[in-house]
Amino acid sequence: MITGGGKRIHIQEISARDGFQIEPRFIATDDKVAFINGLSRAGLAKIEVTSFSSPRAIPTLADAELVLRKIDRVPGVEYAALVPNVRGCARALEVQLDEINVVVSASETHNRANLRMSREQSLAGIREIAALVQGRVHLSVSISTAFGCPFEGPMDSARVLELVDRLSQIGVGRMSLCDTTGVANPAQVYALCLKAHTDWPQVVFTAHFHDTRAMGLANAVAALEAGIDHFDASLGGLGGCPFAPGASGNVCTEDLVHMFEAMGYTTGVDLEQLLKLARGLPALVGHEVPGQVLKAGPATRRYPVPGPDGSALDASCQSTPREDRQAGLSNTSERRS
Ligand code: COA
Ligand code: ZN
Repeated sequence: MITGGGKRIHIQEISARDGFQIEPRFIATDDKVAFINGLSRAGLAKIEVTSFSSPRAIPTLADAELVLRKIDRVPGVEYAALVPNVRGCARALEVQLDEINVVVSASETHNRANLRMSREQSLAGIREIAALVQGRVHLSVSISTAFGCPFEGPMDSARVLELVDRLSQIGVGRMSLCDTTGVANPAQVYALCLKAHTDWPQVVFTAHFHDTRAMGLANAVAALEAGIDHFDASLGGLGGCPFAPGASGNVCTEDLVHMFEAMGYTTGVDLEQLLKLARGLPALVGHEVPGQVLKAGPATRRYPVPGPDGSALDASCQSTPREDRQAGLSNTSERRS
Protein backbone atom coordinates (compact mmCIF):
# COMPACT_ATOMS: atom_id res chain seq x y z
CA MET A 1 0.00 0.00 0.00
CA ILE A 2 1.30 3.44 -0.89
CA THR A 3 1.90 5.94 1.88
CA GLY A 4 2.78 9.55 1.34
CA GLY A 5 5.72 10.16 3.67
CA GLY A 6 4.94 13.88 3.42
CA LYS A 7 5.31 13.98 -0.38
CA ARG A 8 3.77 17.10 -1.91
CA ILE A 9 0.59 16.85 -4.00
CA HIS A 10 -0.61 19.83 -6.03
CA ILE A 11 -4.36 20.44 -5.83
CA GLN A 12 -5.82 22.53 -8.65
CA GLU A 13 -9.28 23.89 -8.00
CA ILE A 14 -11.64 23.97 -10.96
CA SER A 15 -15.08 24.53 -9.41
CA ALA A 16 -15.30 28.11 -10.68
CA ARG A 17 -14.86 26.83 -14.27
CA ASP A 18 -15.76 23.12 -14.66
CA GLY A 19 -18.24 23.52 -11.79
CA PHE A 20 -20.03 26.73 -12.70
CA GLN A 21 -20.07 26.06 -16.48
CA ILE A 22 -22.77 23.40 -16.10
CA GLU A 23 -24.91 25.20 -13.53
CA PRO A 24 -28.31 26.10 -14.95
CA ARG A 25 -28.47 29.53 -13.35
CA PHE A 26 -26.07 32.45 -13.59
CA ILE A 27 -24.07 33.09 -10.44
CA ALA A 28 -23.64 36.82 -9.82
CA THR A 29 -20.15 38.11 -10.64
CA ASP A 30 -19.54 39.44 -7.13
CA ASP A 31 -20.57 36.08 -5.63
CA LYS A 32 -18.09 34.33 -7.94
CA VAL A 33 -15.39 36.80 -6.92
CA ALA A 34 -16.06 36.31 -3.19
CA PHE A 35 -16.03 32.52 -3.68
CA ILE A 36 -12.74 32.58 -5.61
CA ASN A 37 -11.19 34.90 -3.00
CA GLY A 38 -12.13 32.32 -0.36
CA LEU A 39 -10.48 29.58 -2.44
CA SER A 40 -7.35 31.73 -2.78
CA ARG A 41 -6.92 31.58 0.99
CA ALA A 42 -7.22 27.79 1.23
CA GLY A 43 -3.67 26.90 0.15
CA LEU A 44 -4.58 25.57 -3.29
CA ALA A 45 -1.77 25.41 -5.85
CA LYS A 46 -3.85 26.69 -8.75
CA ILE A 47 -7.36 28.00 -9.34
CA GLU A 48 -9.03 27.78 -12.72
CA VAL A 49 -11.12 30.91 -12.46
CA THR A 50 -13.31 30.87 -15.57
CA SER A 51 -13.31 30.16 -19.29
CA PHE A 52 -13.08 32.37 -22.37
CA SER A 53 -15.64 30.37 -24.27
CA SER A 54 -18.35 31.87 -26.42
CA PRO A 55 -20.93 33.43 -24.04
CA ARG A 56 -23.58 31.82 -26.21
CA ALA A 57 -22.08 28.36 -25.59
CA ILE A 58 -21.39 28.89 -21.86
CA PRO A 59 -23.65 31.72 -20.66
CA THR A 60 -22.84 31.16 -16.97
CA LEU A 61 -19.21 32.23 -17.59
CA ALA A 62 -20.00 35.23 -19.79
CA ASP A 63 -18.41 37.50 -17.15
CA ALA A 64 -14.90 35.98 -17.52
CA GLU A 65 -13.03 39.29 -17.97
CA LEU A 66 -14.86 40.95 -15.11
CA VAL A 67 -14.21 38.11 -12.68
CA LEU A 68 -10.50 38.08 -13.51
CA ARG A 69 -10.28 41.83 -13.07
CA LYS A 70 -12.02 41.74 -9.68
CA ILE A 71 -10.44 38.81 -7.83
CA ASP A 72 -7.63 39.19 -5.30
CA ARG A 73 -4.28 37.65 -6.27
CA VAL A 74 -2.70 35.69 -3.47
CA PRO A 75 1.05 35.09 -3.86
CA GLY A 76 1.88 31.44 -4.45
CA VAL A 77 -1.47 30.70 -6.13
CA GLU A 78 -1.56 30.33 -9.91
CA TYR A 79 -4.64 31.73 -11.65
CA ALA A 80 -5.73 29.95 -14.83
CA ALA A 81 -8.53 30.13 -17.39
CA LEU A 82 -9.75 27.69 -19.99
CA VAL A 83 -9.85 28.71 -23.65
CA PRO A 84 -11.50 26.78 -26.48
CA ASN A 85 -9.95 28.58 -29.46
CA VAL A 86 -7.61 31.36 -30.63
CA ARG A 87 -10.31 33.96 -30.10
CA GLY A 88 -10.59 32.87 -26.46
CA CYS A 89 -6.80 33.11 -26.10
CA ALA A 90 -6.81 36.68 -27.41
CA ARG A 91 -9.43 37.58 -24.80
CA ALA A 92 -7.47 35.83 -22.04
CA LEU A 93 -4.29 37.71 -22.89
CA GLU A 94 -6.07 40.99 -22.15
CA VAL A 95 -6.31 40.13 -18.45
CA GLN A 96 -3.81 39.04 -15.80
CA LEU A 97 -3.35 35.26 -15.81
CA ASP A 98 -0.65 32.73 -14.94
CA GLU A 99 -1.88 29.96 -17.21
CA ILE A 100 -4.00 29.48 -20.29
CA ASN A 101 -5.56 26.04 -20.47
CA VAL A 102 -6.63 25.04 -23.98
CA VAL A 103 -9.01 22.15 -24.41
CA VAL A 104 -8.88 19.49 -27.13
CA SER A 105 -10.55 16.08 -27.17
CA ALA A 106 -8.98 12.72 -27.82
CA SER A 107 -12.26 11.88 -29.53
CA GLU A 108 -12.99 13.52 -32.87
CA THR A 109 -16.75 13.45 -32.24
CA HIS A 110 -16.52 15.11 -28.83
CA ASN A 111 -14.11 17.70 -30.19
CA ARG A 112 -16.68 18.66 -32.81
CA ALA A 113 -19.57 18.64 -30.29
CA ASN A 114 -17.65 20.74 -27.77
CA LEU A 115 -15.59 23.04 -29.96
CA ARG A 116 -17.29 22.84 -33.36
CA MET A 117 -14.05 22.01 -35.11
CA SER A 118 -11.95 18.96 -35.94
CA ARG A 119 -9.05 17.78 -33.79
CA GLU A 120 -6.68 18.91 -36.55
CA GLN A 121 -8.20 22.40 -36.46
CA SER A 122 -7.84 22.43 -32.67
CA LEU A 123 -4.18 21.39 -32.96
CA ALA A 124 -3.56 24.15 -35.49
CA GLY A 125 -5.16 26.57 -33.03
CA ILE A 126 -2.95 25.29 -30.21
CA ARG A 127 0.13 25.85 -32.37
CA GLU A 128 -1.02 29.44 -32.91
CA ILE A 129 -1.82 29.89 -29.22
CA ALA A 130 1.61 28.49 -28.20
CA ALA A 131 3.26 31.21 -30.28
CA LEU A 132 0.96 33.90 -28.86
CA VAL A 133 1.51 33.04 -25.19
CA GLN A 134 5.22 32.23 -25.33
CA GLY A 135 7.11 34.11 -22.61
CA ARG A 136 3.87 35.59 -21.26
CA VAL A 137 1.89 32.88 -19.49
CA HIS A 138 2.13 29.13 -18.98
CA LEU A 139 0.37 27.01 -21.57
CA SER A 140 -1.51 23.91 -20.55
CA VAL A 141 -3.65 21.59 -22.67
CA SER A 142 -6.52 19.55 -21.26
CA ILE A 143 -7.11 16.36 -23.21
CA SER A 144 -10.83 15.63 -22.86
CA THR A 145 -12.32 12.14 -23.24
CA ALA A 146 -8.84 10.66 -22.64
CA PHE A 147 -10.34 7.50 -21.16
CA GLY A 148 -13.61 7.23 -23.08
CA CYS A 149 -16.11 9.24 -25.08
CA PRO A 150 -19.90 9.43 -24.68
CA PHE A 151 -20.24 9.20 -28.48
CA GLU A 152 -17.39 6.90 -29.55
CA GLY A 153 -17.00 4.65 -26.50
CA PRO A 154 -13.72 3.46 -24.96
CA MET A 155 -10.64 5.46 -25.94
CA ASP A 156 -7.63 3.67 -27.37
CA SER A 157 -4.67 4.79 -25.23
CA ALA A 158 -2.46 4.87 -28.35
CA ARG A 159 -4.61 7.74 -29.69
CA VAL A 160 -4.20 9.68 -26.47
CA LEU A 161 -0.45 9.11 -26.41
CA GLU A 162 -0.17 10.20 -30.03
CA LEU A 163 -1.92 13.43 -29.06
CA VAL A 164 0.44 13.83 -26.08
CA ASP A 165 3.36 13.41 -28.47
CA ARG A 166 2.07 15.99 -30.92
CA LEU A 167 1.37 18.49 -28.15
CA SER A 168 4.81 17.89 -26.70
CA GLN A 169 6.33 18.62 -30.13
CA ILE A 170 4.42 21.91 -30.18
CA GLY A 171 6.16 22.68 -26.87
CA VAL A 172 3.25 22.15 -24.48
CA GLY A 173 4.79 21.40 -21.08
CA ARG A 174 1.60 20.94 -19.05
CA MET A 175 -1.16 18.50 -19.95
CA SER A 176 -4.25 17.18 -18.20
CA LEU A 177 -5.62 13.73 -18.86
CA CYS A 178 -9.36 14.23 -18.45
CA ASP A 179 -12.03 11.63 -17.83
CA THR A 180 -14.80 13.90 -19.05
CA THR A 181 -17.77 11.63 -18.34
CA GLY A 182 -16.39 9.48 -15.51
CA VAL A 183 -15.92 6.23 -17.42
CA ALA A 184 -12.30 5.49 -16.46
CA ASN A 185 -11.38 2.70 -14.06
CA PRO A 186 -8.26 2.51 -11.88
CA ALA A 187 -6.52 -0.18 -13.97
CA GLN A 188 -6.93 1.89 -17.13
CA VAL A 189 -5.86 5.08 -15.34
CA TYR A 190 -2.74 3.45 -13.93
CA ALA A 191 -1.67 2.12 -17.34
CA LEU A 192 -2.19 5.40 -19.26
CA CYS A 193 -0.74 7.66 -16.55
CA LEU A 194 2.33 5.45 -16.10
CA LYS A 195 3.04 5.38 -19.83
CA ALA A 196 2.54 9.15 -20.25
CA HIS A 197 4.55 10.04 -17.15
CA THR A 198 7.40 7.67 -18.06
CA ASP A 199 7.67 8.45 -21.76
CA TRP A 200 7.25 12.27 -21.50
CA PRO A 201 9.18 13.11 -18.31
CA GLN A 202 9.48 16.75 -19.42
CA VAL A 203 5.68 17.15 -19.28
CA VAL A 204 3.85 17.89 -16.04
CA PHE A 205 0.70 15.78 -16.17
CA THR A 206 -2.47 16.52 -14.24
CA ALA A 207 -5.14 13.91 -13.57
CA HIS A 208 -8.69 15.21 -14.02
CA PHE A 209 -11.48 12.87 -12.99
CA HIS A 210 -15.23 13.06 -12.82
CA ASP A 211 -16.97 10.96 -10.21
CA THR A 212 -19.96 10.09 -12.40
CA ARG A 213 -19.64 6.36 -11.64
CA ALA A 214 -18.09 6.66 -8.16
CA MET A 215 -14.60 5.76 -9.43
CA GLY A 216 -13.10 9.24 -9.01
CA LEU A 217 -11.10 8.76 -5.79
CA ALA A 218 -10.00 5.26 -6.78
CA ASN A 219 -8.79 6.70 -10.09
CA ALA A 220 -6.91 9.44 -8.24
CA VAL A 221 -5.07 6.84 -6.17
CA ALA A 222 -4.25 4.89 -9.35
CA ALA A 223 -2.85 8.04 -10.98
CA LEU A 224 -0.84 8.79 -7.85
CA GLU A 225 0.59 5.29 -7.88
CA ALA A 226 1.62 5.87 -11.50
CA GLY A 227 3.61 8.94 -10.44
CA ILE A 228 1.14 11.79 -11.08
CA ASP A 229 1.21 14.49 -8.39
CA HIS A 230 -1.04 17.19 -9.89
CA PHE A 231 -4.80 16.79 -9.53
CA ASP A 232 -7.78 18.81 -10.67
CA ALA A 233 -10.70 18.79 -8.27
CA SER A 234 -13.86 20.75 -7.69
CA LEU A 235 -15.25 21.98 -4.38
CA GLY A 236 -18.35 20.10 -3.33
CA GLY A 237 -17.95 17.83 -6.36
CA LEU A 238 -19.51 20.32 -8.80
CA GLY A 239 -18.75 20.01 -12.49
CA GLY A 240 -19.41 18.65 -15.94
CA CYS A 241 -19.08 19.45 -19.63
CA PRO A 242 -22.37 20.75 -21.09
CA PHE A 243 -21.41 19.21 -24.47
CA ALA A 244 -20.81 15.68 -23.17
CA PRO A 245 -24.09 13.86 -22.53
CA GLY A 246 -24.17 12.17 -19.13
CA ALA A 247 -21.44 14.36 -17.64
CA SER A 248 -21.60 15.06 -13.91
CA GLY A 249 -19.44 16.32 -11.06
CA ASN A 250 -15.68 16.27 -10.69
CA VAL A 251 -13.79 14.55 -7.92
CA CYS A 252 -14.63 16.61 -4.86
CA THR A 253 -11.72 18.76 -3.63
CA GLU A 254 -12.34 18.41 0.09
CA ASP A 255 -12.77 14.63 -0.26
CA LEU A 256 -9.54 14.36 -2.29
CA VAL A 257 -7.55 16.55 0.13
CA HIS A 258 -8.94 14.62 3.09
CA MET A 259 -7.93 11.30 1.51
CA PHE A 260 -4.42 12.37 0.47
CA GLU A 261 -3.69 13.94 3.87
CA ALA A 262 -4.95 10.80 5.64
CA MET A 263 -2.56 8.76 3.47
CA GLY A 264 0.36 10.89 4.62
CA TYR A 265 0.71 13.23 1.63
CA THR A 266 1.04 16.99 1.98
CA THR A 267 -1.41 19.09 -0.03
CA GLY A 268 -0.77 22.45 1.65
CA VAL A 269 -4.55 22.89 1.63
CA ASP A 270 -6.54 24.05 4.66
CA LEU A 271 -9.34 21.48 4.86
CA GLU A 272 -11.31 23.57 7.35
CA GLN A 273 -11.33 26.51 4.96
CA LEU A 274 -12.49 24.22 2.13
CA LEU A 275 -15.29 22.83 4.27
CA LYS A 276 -16.34 26.33 5.26
CA LEU A 277 -16.60 27.31 1.58
CA ALA A 278 -18.29 24.03 0.64
CA ARG A 279 -20.95 24.65 3.31
CA GLY A 280 -21.88 27.81 1.42
CA LEU A 281 -22.15 26.09 -1.96
CA PRO A 282 -25.82 24.97 -1.82
CA ALA A 283 -26.86 28.59 -1.28
CA LEU A 284 -24.56 29.73 -4.08
CA VAL A 285 -25.65 27.19 -6.72
CA GLY A 286 -29.18 26.51 -5.49
CA HIS A 287 -28.88 22.76 -4.88
CA GLU A 288 -27.17 20.19 -2.67
CA VAL A 289 -23.63 19.12 -3.61
CA PRO A 290 -22.24 15.57 -3.66
CA GLY A 291 -19.21 16.02 -1.35
CA GLN A 292 -18.97 13.31 1.31
CA VAL A 293 -16.60 14.76 3.94
CA LEU A 294 -18.85 17.80 4.10
CA LYS A 295 -21.66 15.52 5.29
CA ALA A 296 -19.72 13.06 7.44
CA GLY A 297 -16.97 15.33 8.79
CA PRO A 298 -13.29 14.35 8.64
CA ALA A 299 -12.30 10.85 9.78
CA THR A 300 -10.85 12.49 12.91
CA ARG A 301 -14.35 13.55 13.98
CA ARG A 302 -15.30 12.28 17.43
CA TYR A 303 -18.75 11.97 18.97
CA PRO A 304 -19.74 12.17 22.61
CA VAL A 305 -19.52 8.76 24.29
CA PRO A 306 -23.02 7.37 25.00
CA GLY A 307 -24.11 7.35 28.64
CA PRO A 308 -24.87 4.07 30.46
CA ASP A 309 -28.51 4.33 29.35
CA GLY A 310 -27.50 4.82 25.73
CA SER A 311 -28.18 8.57 25.79
CA ALA A 312 -26.12 11.23 24.04
CA LEU A 313 -25.43 9.18 20.90
CA ASP A 314 -24.73 12.40 19.09
CA ALA A 315 -25.02 16.10 19.64
CA SER A 316 -28.63 16.27 18.39
CA CYS A 317 -29.77 13.36 20.60
CA GLN A 318 -28.02 14.99 23.52
CA SER A 319 -30.18 18.06 23.24
CA THR A 320 -33.41 16.06 22.85
CA PRO A 321 -35.35 15.62 26.10
CA ARG A 322 -35.22 11.98 27.18
CA GLU A 323 -38.97 11.61 27.64
CA ASP A 324 -39.53 12.93 24.08
CA ARG A 325 -37.19 10.31 22.68
CA GLN A 326 -38.92 7.59 24.65
CA ALA A 327 -42.18 8.77 23.13
CA GLY A 328 -40.58 8.49 19.69
CA LEU A 329 -40.32 12.25 19.25
CA SER A 330 -37.29 14.25 18.27
CA ASN A 331 -36.85 18.00 18.01
CA THR A 332 -37.17 17.63 14.25
CA SER A 333 -40.39 15.64 14.32
CA GLU A 334 -41.83 18.11 16.82
CA ARG A 335 -41.03 20.94 14.47
CA ARG A 336 -42.61 19.15 11.53
CA SER A 337 -45.87 18.40 13.35
N1 COA B 1 -15.18 33.94 -26.98
C1 COA B 1 -16.20 34.75 -27.32
N2 COA B 1 -16.87 34.65 -28.47
C2 COA B 1 -16.43 33.70 -29.33
C3 COA B 1 -15.37 32.86 -29.06
C4 COA B 1 -14.75 32.99 -27.81
N3 COA B 1 -13.76 32.19 -27.44
N4 COA B 1 -15.20 32.04 -30.08
C5 COA B 1 -16.11 32.36 -31.01
N5 COA B 1 -16.87 33.36 -30.54
C6 COA B 1 -17.97 34.00 -31.19
C7 COA B 1 -17.63 34.53 -32.55
O1 COA B 1 -17.10 35.82 -32.47
C8 COA B 1 -19.00 34.50 -33.20
O2 COA B 1 -19.73 35.61 -32.73
P1 COA B 1 -20.81 36.33 -33.67
O3 COA B 1 -21.83 35.27 -34.03
O4 COA B 1 -21.35 37.41 -32.80
O5 COA B 1 -20.04 36.80 -34.84
C9 COA B 1 -19.64 33.28 -32.63
O6 COA B 1 -18.98 33.05 -31.37
C10 COA B 1 -19.52 32.08 -33.52
O7 COA B 1 -18.16 31.92 -33.85
P2 COA B 1 -17.63 30.58 -34.50
O8 COA B 1 -16.20 30.74 -34.84
O9 COA B 1 -18.57 30.17 -35.62
O10 COA B 1 -17.68 29.63 -33.32
P3 COA B 1 -18.77 28.57 -32.96
O11 COA B 1 -20.13 29.12 -32.84
O12 COA B 1 -18.59 27.44 -33.86
O13 COA B 1 -18.32 28.24 -31.46
C11 COA B 1 -16.73 27.81 -29.72
C12 COA B 1 -17.06 27.67 -31.18
C13 COA B 1 -15.61 26.92 -29.37
C14 COA B 1 -16.35 29.22 -29.44
C15 COA B 1 -17.96 27.53 -28.87
O14 COA B 1 -18.54 26.34 -29.30
C16 COA B 1 -17.61 27.43 -27.42
O15 COA B 1 -17.24 28.39 -26.75
N6 COA B 1 -17.80 26.22 -26.84
C17 COA B 1 -17.60 26.04 -25.45
C18 COA B 1 -16.52 25.05 -25.19
C19 COA B 1 -16.41 24.84 -23.72
O16 COA B 1 -16.09 25.74 -22.96
N7 COA B 1 -16.71 23.61 -23.27
C20 COA B 1 -16.67 23.25 -21.89
C21 COA B 1 -15.30 23.05 -21.40
S1 COA B 1 -14.62 21.50 -21.81
ZN1 ZN C 1 -13.96 18.17 -16.48
